[in-house]
Amino acid sequence: MIQPDSTFRKRACIPVGRMILLAALMLAALGAVADEKKSGEPAPLKPVKQPVEFSHKRHAEFGLECKLCHPMAGGEQAGIPQTADCLNCHQDSDSSTPAFRALFEHAKTKKRIAWTRVYLLPYFVFFGHKGHQGAKDGCETCHGPVATRDLLWKERETSMKSCVECHKANQASISCTFCHELNQ
Ligand code: HEC
Ligand code: HEC
Ligand code: HEC
Ligand code: HEC
Ligand code: HEC
Repeated sequence: MIQPDSTFRKRACIPVGRMILLAALMLAALGAVADEKKSGEPAPLKPVKQPVEFSHKRHAEFGLECKLCHPMAGGEQAGIPQTADCLNCHQDSDSSTPAFRALFEHAKTKKRIAWTRVYLLPYFVFFGHKGHQGAKDGCETCHGPVATRDLLWKERETSMKSCVECHKANQASISCTFCHELNQ
């Protein structure tokens, strides 16, 4: 029911050289591309207040699994729910309460929820969730104990060092071109 966010970059299929050219052209033409611009911003290291109230802890208490909202369609990107996905369950919630006001405001104006992204790699790095399904502690390995958090922040590193260390420990490749396409 929940689709991956179509604005996300499908980076893994596009050579980096073409990606840069494409980004440059788009930036020139449009002034800025939201996601590309965001990927240059430092990731939040403190709990992020989102434009619509949402608590992972609260939803985990009701036994909702990660996959329900992050279906990993295609295996690469997890996907983040949008207004219509929330309304599947919250159609009848009280729109006059502070918790739900922003959600219903977005629904009424058909506005997309501009989630502040917590984990976002630079565009020149390849990463897919599919190859990482075997991580020892599942999602927590790279995102921390999300199910116990009201608000999220970048509590686990995604530095090159952190990737390479785990690749070494798991006999996964550490050749540059595994994570970057350098010579296009
Ligand atoms: C009911 C829907 C729902 C469920 C269930 C859910 N999430 Fe989320 N998730 C969201 C929404 C909405 C956001 C965006 C707002 C935020 O960052 O808190 C999000 C954001 C995230 C992010 C940050 C992504 C980024 O880069 O901005 C991670 C990581 C994440 N979820 C992991 C998990 C894990 C792990 C579980 C299971 C323990 C889970 N989620 C369960 C809805 C859900
Ligand atoms: C699969 C069903 C489901 C989906 C999808 C879902 N929720 Fe919920 N949500 C619940 C349940 C169950 C509760 C707890 C009962 C309640 O408070 O209504 C809840 C509670 C809430 C609350 C109240 C929290 C509190 O403190 O009581 C908010 C706000 C909320 N959800 C927002 C969202 C938003 C925003 C989305 C979309 C990103 C979303 N929910 C997606 C099932 C869902
Ligand atoms: C090996 C580390 C790792 C594991 C394990 C992992 N993630 Fe991620 N996740 C990342 C990285 C890195 C990003 C940023 C990717 C990017 O910017 O392209 C990310 C991004 C996300 C996002 C942002 C939106 C998107 O579509 O990419 C969500 C949501 C998310 N992860 C949820 C999960 C869930 C749920 C699980 C468990 C089923 C999980 N992750 C397991 C490293 C991991
Ligand atoms: C928890 C350990 C762990 C972490 C952390 C980790 N990786 Fe991996 N990664 C692996 C393993 C193991 C494989 C090999 C999987 C296989 O053989 O199918 C892999 C495979 C990959 C692949 C190839 C398969 C695919 O999904 O595209 C890429 C690209 C990759 N990792 C990039 C990264 C990047 C970039 C980071 C940091 C943001 C990272 N990895 C962090 C363990 C990890
Ligand atoms: C397992 C994945 C992985 C491998 C292997 C890898 N990198 Fe990276 N690299 C990353 C990630 C992730 C980033 C972005 C880190 C960040 O967001 O700060 C990065 C960033 C970079 C940067 C940008 C500068 C910086 O420090 O942020 C350069 C240049 C780079 N890598 C070159 C290389 C070279 C050369 C190799 C081979 C010796 C290599 N990388 C191997 C994942 C990898």
